Amino acid sequence: MIIVDQNLIRKIIKKRLPDSHKGEHGHALIIAGSRTKMGAAIIAAKACLRSGIGLVTLNIPKKERGAIFTAIPEAMIELREENNDWEKYNALAIGPGFGTDKTAERKVEFLLKNAKSPVVFDADSLNIFAQKQQLLTKLPPNSTLTPHVKEFDRLFGIHFSVEKRQQKAMEKAIELNCIIVLKGHKTFVTDGKQCFQNTTGNPGLAKGGSGDALTGIITAFLAQGYEPINAATLAVYLHGMAADLTLETQSVESMLITDVIANLGKAFQ
Ligand code: APR
Ligand code: MG
Repeated sequence: MIIVDQNLIRKIIKKRLPDSHKGEHGHALIIAGSRTKMGAAIIAAKACLRSGIGLVTLNIPKKERGAIFTAIPEAMIELREENNDWEKYNALAIGPGFGTDKTAERKVEFLLKNAKSPVVFDADSLNIFAQKQQLLTKLPPNSTLTPHVKEFDRLFGIHFSVEKRQQKAMEKAIELNCIIVLKGHKTFVTDGKQCFQNTTGNPGLAKGGSGDALTGIITAFLAQGYEPINAATLAVYLHGMAADLTLETQSVESMLITDVIANLGKAFQ
């Protein structure tokens, strides 16, 4: 088990060049949100924008588009109902607040056929896989799955210990040729060959929205060209570090994921 600490992070993280422009920092697409869960989409996009990305586009239902420009003017949108062309994006994420109905399922299937860039599968996209296991065999190369414990067990069967779950995560990462980020206290990241254990974060993150932010951060690193295993490791560390820095002004009870996203800057420093 490799411990994810500041030494490791300093080796992985790349410096932004003084003469860089937005085209070099990637364009991420986040396919998230539904009628009652647009907050998940906004949180993921905000965290992505605070993690070095050049451009973010949110794929959202047409009826909900009004919310975006006031909540997050830096993001662009595309409409869920349209025939989307996803070739221009350097990384994609699907799932936060997405829903699991037939339309959502068809969008996941479309993505599995058409993705040309690395994809993060989170939240409801994982729940769709749990309902339709055969879809899991069609993951595009360089995919990352980010289940919390319950999502993991829905996907791969109930596990009664942390060790057994981690062992299964390694087996599945090999079998499906993907990265698995098993979230929780001391998040575990594996590609099946190497295993990483995070050291940052606190129970202030045990709240709705924390996972959506992590998805945005991983997607930002993928779009900037990090190897998926490094993107996941960096993201879990900085996400947890931002939450730890939030304890300077908030408590584990009072912290909002919005506060954590605001502290990503300090975490990068
Ligand atoms: N210590 C450290 N980190 C923690 C802790 C803890 N005690 N508790 C949670 N975290 C971190 C996890 O490691 C993960 O990165 O917070 C994040 C929580 O992510 P999720 O469990 O996905 O929670 P979230 O997405 O915010 O939940 C909202 O999404 O996935 C669905 O079913 C979920 O309905 C829920 C919704
Ligand atoms: Mg989640």
